[in-house]
Amino acid sequence: MAKIIDGKEISKKLKEKIKKEIEILKERKIEVSLAVVLVGDDFASKIYVKNKEKTSAELGIFSKKIILKKEATEKEVLKTIEVLNEDSKINGILVQLPLPSHIKEHSILERINPLKDVDCFHPFNFGKFVLGKNYLFSPCTPSGIVDLIDSTGVDVAGKNCVVVGRSNIVGKPISFLMLRKNATVSICHSKTKDLEFFTKNADILIVAVGIAGFIKKSMVKKGAVVIDVGVNRKEDGKVCGDVLYNEVFDVAGYITPVPGGVGPMTIAKLMENVLIAAKFQNNILN
Ligand code: GUN
Repeated sequence: MAKIIDGKEISKKLKEKIKKEIEILKERKIEVSLAVVLVGDDFASKIYVKNKEKTSAELGIFSKKIILKKEATEKEVLKTIEVLNEDSKINGILVQLPLPSHIKEHSILERINPLKDVDCFHPFNFGKFVLGKNYLFSPCTPSGIVDLIDSTGVDVAGKNCVVVGRSNIVGKPISFLMLRKNATVSICHSKTKDLEFFTKNADILIVAVGIAGFIKKSMVKKGAVVIDVGVNRKEDGKVCGDVLYNEVFDVAGYITPVPGGVGPMTIAKLMENVLIAAKFQNNILN
């Protein structure tokens, strides 16, 4: 039976630390702020944006929400970003993904001022992060996953880490982080032949494919650390991950629940990046 990795509890500690730092900045008349841009009315995106607003309020971060119609042109979105780039009262800018299909994601993300890019999606920030030296921001979900794995006390060095999914938001950056921790990393994806061969050999299995119940008990090594990044909505409206939790629970050593695992860490790490942005812009980054 697995031990549950409690993302809610771990993120709570991080949020308390961030909140204290924000209070200290407030005493110095520095207000920390985040702008969130939502294009369209995607149901899941609206929930994510609402959660980001709620957490910002809890931590004392001023948040500004900009909602554009789903028909908004790329030019209109770019203009919105330009205005936020120029606004000295805004420390962080986040454009909620996915964007409507007529808008080129890379054009939008590349327009965000890298110093305000709290998602760490801009090629400048992502490149510096991959190189691993002197970088300001770390991508939120991957750095949250590292904290979750660290909380188990399992030493990653020399272990087989298998990442299922190769997205720019999770799969690619978490692979670099695990490599930095000296894991032997395999990145699997939809074209991987004999996926089970890889997953069965994984001491650490990180799954981010967006398919409910994709990872079954037969695919998991006994005692493995299993990190489920999936957020899928079932027919009954309930949320579930990419891992068949109930059966994988019997074989894994550690497992993250959905909800309550990776999700809360992503938001806490975003808030941490907003704090870093505010400190850097006010020349007080230590
Ligand atoms: N959509 C899904 N995950 C993310 C994320 O981490 N940041 C943004 N901006 N959009 C997302």
